Amino acid sequence: MSVSAAAIEALMQEHRTFAPSEDFVRSARVRDNSLYEQAEQDAEQFWAEQARHYISWATDFDQVLEWKLPFAKWFLGGRLNVSYNCLDRHVQAGRGDKVAFFWEGEPGDSRVITYQELLDEVCRTANALKQIGVRKGDRVALYLPMIPELVVSMLACARIGAVHCVVFAGFSAEALVDRITDSGATLLVTADEAWRRGKKVPLKQNADRALVDVKHEVKMLVVRRTGGEVEWRQELDSWYHELVPQQPPLCDPELMDSEDLLFTLYTSGTTAKPKGIKHTTAGYLLQAMYTHDLVFDIQPDTVYWCSADCGWVTGHTYIVYGPLGNGVTSVMYEGAPDFPEQDRLWSIVEKHRVSVLYTAPTAIRAFMKWGDQFPGRHDLSSIRLLGSVGEPINPEAWMWYRDKIGAGVAPVVDTWWQTETGGIMVAPLPGLLPLKPGSATRPLPGIFADVVDEAGKSVAPGQGGYVVLTRPWPGMLRGIWGDDDRYRETYWSRYPGCYFAGDGARRDEDGYFWFMGRVDDVMNVSGHRLSTAELESALVSHPAVAEAAVVPREDALTGQAIIAYVTLRSGFRERAELAEELRAHVGSQIGAIAKPRSVAFTPDLPKTRSGKIMRRLLRDIADDRKLGDTTTLADPEIVKELQARAHEERYSSE
Ligand code: WT7
Repeated sequence: MSVSAAAIEALMQEHRTFAPSEDFVRSARVRDNSLYEQAEQDAEQFWAEQARHYISWATDFDQVLEWKLPFAKWFLGGRLNVSYNCLDRHVQAGRGDKVAFFWEGEPGDSRVITYQELLDEVCRTANALKQIGVRKGDRVALYLPMIPELVVSMLACARIGAVHCVVFAGFSAEALVDRITDSGATLLVTADEAWRRGKKVPLKQNADRALVDVKHEVKMLVVRRTGGEVEWRQELDSWYHELVPQQPPLCDPELMDSEDLLFTLYTSGTTAKPKGIKHTTAGYLLQAMYTHDLVFDIQPDTVYWCSADCGWVTGHTYIVYGPLGNGVTSVMYEGAPDFPEQDRLWSIVEKHRVSVLYTAPTAIRAFMKWGDQFPGRHDLSSIRLLGSVGEPINPEAWMWYRDKIGAGVAPVVDTWWQTETGGIMVAPLPGLLPLKPGSATRPLPGIFADVVDEAGKSVAPGQGGYVVLTRPWPGMLRGIWGDDDRYRETYWSRYPGCYFAGDGARRDEDGYFWFMGRVDDVMNVSGHRLSTAELESALVSHPAVAEAAVVPREDALTGQAIIAYVTLRSGFRERAELAEELRAHVGSQIGAIAKPRSVAFTPDLPKTRSGKIMRRLLRDIADDRKLGDTTTLADPEIVKELQARAHEERYSSE
C-alpha cells in the first residue's frame, strides 16, 4: 500500500512567507548566495577559508579533514587556544573595555564585566586550578548556577587544556554521581547555593551527597553565592573567593592541538542512559563562531542575549564560545523568567537595549500563556532579530514571537541542531532567505543534510522522512566518552555513510526543512505515520490553546489512537465542549485522520529540565502503564496530577 512508502506523512501546510525588511537587509551581514555557492563547489576549501578567517592560530593547520568514517579530524596540524581566541586577542586589539557580559542576578544584583576583566579573572582561575593540581587533559566537573564564575571556569579549563564537563545545576545528586564517575573528573567546581524563584537550592549539599557515591577522590572549589551554611572537608574543599583573588592575572594559554578534547557534555535525553558527547578544539570553535556570527547577523553594536543555561549545549556554544569568540557584548541572566514577575525577561531587554534574543519554543509558549500584557509593559524597540531552538516551533508561537516581541518586523530565525552537532546546522541567513513560520529553512553553507525514506532514498518535495547529515562538519561530535561502539551504533549504523539525527522532517519545494520531532514519537494511525509536531501545531493554532502534546494509545481498531494533552491560555476554561471544538479544529486544519480520539486538559506538561516535552511519559499514562524513568523531569508533580486525572477528565469521542 502506498501509505507505508512514505516514511512520515506530511499533512500541514503553511503558506505565509516573510521577506526581510529593506531596513534589515541594508546592514545585513550576508546579502547574496556566494557562501552557499563556494561551499557547494568545494566544501573543504570553504571550511579552510572560514577557519583562517574566524580563528587566530598559533600554528596554521596543514590538512583540512581526515574522514575515517565515522571518525573525523578537522584542521590537522593546527595549534590554538580557545580562551586566547575568546579573550586575549580582543584585548590586544584594543577592545579590553568592551563589555563581555551584562550579568543580571535573580535577586536583582548585577555586574558589568569587560573583556579585560574577564581575561584577568580567567587567568586567576586558571592559576587556581593549576594550584589545586589540575593538569592538561584532566576532567573538571562544573555544577554551578548561571553566575559569571561558570563562564570563567569553562574558559579557565580551556586555557590550561583541561576538559570541562558542565552538569546543569538543576540536576540532582544522582545525576552528578553518574557524570562524575563516567568522566573521571578529579575536581568539582560548585557554589554554596543557587537562587531559583527566590528560593535557595543547596548545591554544595547535593555535591557532598553525590561524592559519597563516587569511588574516586574529587576535590571541590566552591563559589560563595548566597552565603548559606555548608559543610566543609578541610583537606579537599577550597573557597573560590579565598583562592582565586590571590592568583596573578596572567597565565599563558596552553597550546592545544586542533583535535584535543575541549569538553564533554552529557545529553539529558528524553530516553535512555546519558551519553558523554565529545567536542574538540578547532572545529567546534569554528562552528560556534561562524554560525553565531551569520545566523544572528552580528553587528558591532549588537547586544546579544541567549537565555539558555550553560548546563546545555546551547549555553556552551551560544553564551560562551560563539559570542566571546566573536567579541560580542552579551546579557547573562541567573534566574527564572517569572521572577519576581512574568515580565522579567522584558525588563532586562529594556534595561540593556537587547538587539538579538535567542530562546526556546517552550519559553515562548509560556509567555503566550501568561499573556501579552507582560511584554506590553516594556519598551522592546531595541530588538532587531529573534532566535528559537530546542523543539519545533509551531507557526502560532513563531507569529506571536515576531509580533509581540519583534514589533511585527524582526526576523525569527528557527535554528535546528543538537548537542551532537556542536552548533547550528539548519537555519536561515536572515538578510537573505524569506522566512516561513515553523521552518528552519535550509542547511547553512558548508552543511549537507537530506531527508530520506526507510530505504535511505531522498524523499520528494512535500514528503516526510528521516533527517540525515551526508557529510562531516567541523563541529560534529568526535564520539561518546568511553563508548565508540555506542557512537557507531546510535548515529552511523542506520544509513551507511550518513549521520542519523533521529528527527523527522519534511522538505518543501523551496528546499526548506520543516522539522517534525523525534522519530521515536511518530504515531501510526490506521497505517498513516503522523508526526507529533504537526498535530501539536494544529492544536496550538486554536486561540484557547497555549501548549499541546500528542501521544498514541494502543487501539484495537486503528493500531494507535491519538490522545492530546492540552494546556489552555489564561482566561479559558476546561470543558467538554471545548475538547470537542479542538477535535474539530484539528480535523479542519489537517484532516479527519489526525483528529485526536480524546483530549485531556492539564495545567502543564511533563518536561525535561531543558524544556522538552517528555511524550514517553505521556504514552505510559495514556496506556495506563507503569511509568518509565522520571528522574529527568522538571516537575514530577505534573505526572501525578495527570495520572490522577487520567480516568475522570478525559474528554473523549468514544
Ligand atoms: C534535539 C536536540 C540544539 C540545542 C538544544 C537542544 C530538537 C532542536 C530544533 C528546531 C525542531 C529541534 C531535535 C533535536 N530540536 N532544535 N529548531 N526545530 N527540533 O539540544 O538537547 O541535543 O536536542 O532537539 O529533536 O534532535 P539537544
